[in-house]
Amino acid sequence: MSHFAHARVDLDAIAHNARLLRECAGGTPLMGVVKADGYGHGMLPAARALIAGGATWLGTAFIDEALELRRAGLTLPVLAWIIPPGEPVAEAVEADVDLGVSDRAVLDTVIAEAVRLGRTARVQLKADTGLNRGGVNPADWRNLVDAAARAEDEGHLRVCGVWSHFACADEPGHPSIALQLSRFHEALEIADKAGLDPEVRHIANSAALLTLPEARFDLVRGGIAGYGLCPIPDFGATGLRPAMTLRSRIALTKRVPAGSGVSYGHRYVTDRETTLALVPLGYADGVPRAATNKGPVLLGGRSRVISGTVCMDQFVVDVGDDTVEAGEYAVLFGDPGEDPGVPTAEDWARILDTIPYEIVTRVGVRVPREYVGAPA
Ligand SMILES: Cc1ncc(COP(=O)(O)O)c(C=O)c1O
Repeated sequence: MSHFAHARVDLDAIAHNARLLRECAGGTPLMGVVKADGYGHGMLPAARALIAGGATWLGTAFIDEALELRRAGLTLPVLAWIIPPGEPVAEAVEADVDLGVSDRAVLDTVIAEAVRLGRTARVQLKADTGLNRGGVNPADWRNLVDAAARAEDEGHLRVCGVWSHFACADEPGHPSIALQLSRFHEALEIADKAGLDPEVRHIANSAALLTLPEARFDLVRGGIAGYGLCPIPDFGATGLRPAMTLRSRIALTKRVPAGSGVSYGHRYVTDRETTLALVPLGYADGVPRAATNKGPVLLGGRSRVISGTVCMDQFVVDVGDDTVEAGEYAVLFGDPGEDPGVPTAEDWARILDTIPYEIVTRVGVRVPREYVGAPA
């Protein structure tokens, strides 16, 4: 293997997860969410693996991501949902990308481009049911729906979807969940009364997909779970397979005496003569600096903890008197089902008080992705 560090991505695991999510959702069609470079796994290989596992829609944050999917020859429906001013709306209309409409200005831009191009744009109206992020507020929903219905009658657009997004689906039982569902039903009723007949109504993300049958509607949007990670802390067994393994070869080892301060700031001090192993991955590669003296690493067959400060390009692990040699692999996270004892991205998230999404999406560009499983 030529690279000292890489993120190995198991495409069979992603396809397996997509199949599992479809089963969990009682066969409801699955949108595989591939924004942010497929949550760090590589957008195109991840998309193809999700499709192999049964996803029939793809979701991205930005139009450019959706256009990249189209350029790669993927013709299935794709929804892009963050559309700031100046985005390539015309290209999206020409490429039949579904445009998530979160406010009137976006709707007007899409209509203007559709008129200019003489095409029918595909849009999906997003209701803000309580996340207070993207989406149209309840007070403005009726106006937006009426404007979209008029433009649909005039042939400028087709309202393919009506949708929303949960704030707290990763906290099952949170009171906002029922409230958002009831507001979503109200938004759908208003759309229905205005004569809209969307192909898909959807609100569920991975957490809702795993826990809320009543949130399935016509489509479920699976992001993190497709990559084998559970959005709900301490949820228990899901059968999902973590797709990414982050590992690096040890660059060097050295013996140091007791009382040696290790790495910047000497935040770790050896309590005996010991062996230090240098792992050439740092915060520039996505290992959070907050993992200083905290991050778990499987090395020499044992789970250990990073010793001292995580630097830009490297960190150190105290391996005691164990025999660990340069060239051996240190595994930061992966799939314990395949590699017993390996920490998971969920372990990293718990230890660093964050979410597994952040752990996998932050793996840097210097770390090559290596694909195993189905063809990328
Ligand atoms: C609008 C929207 N839908 C779906 C998802 C997928 O969420 P998850 O990765 O929790 O399944 C996201 C991700 O943040 C999102 O922003």
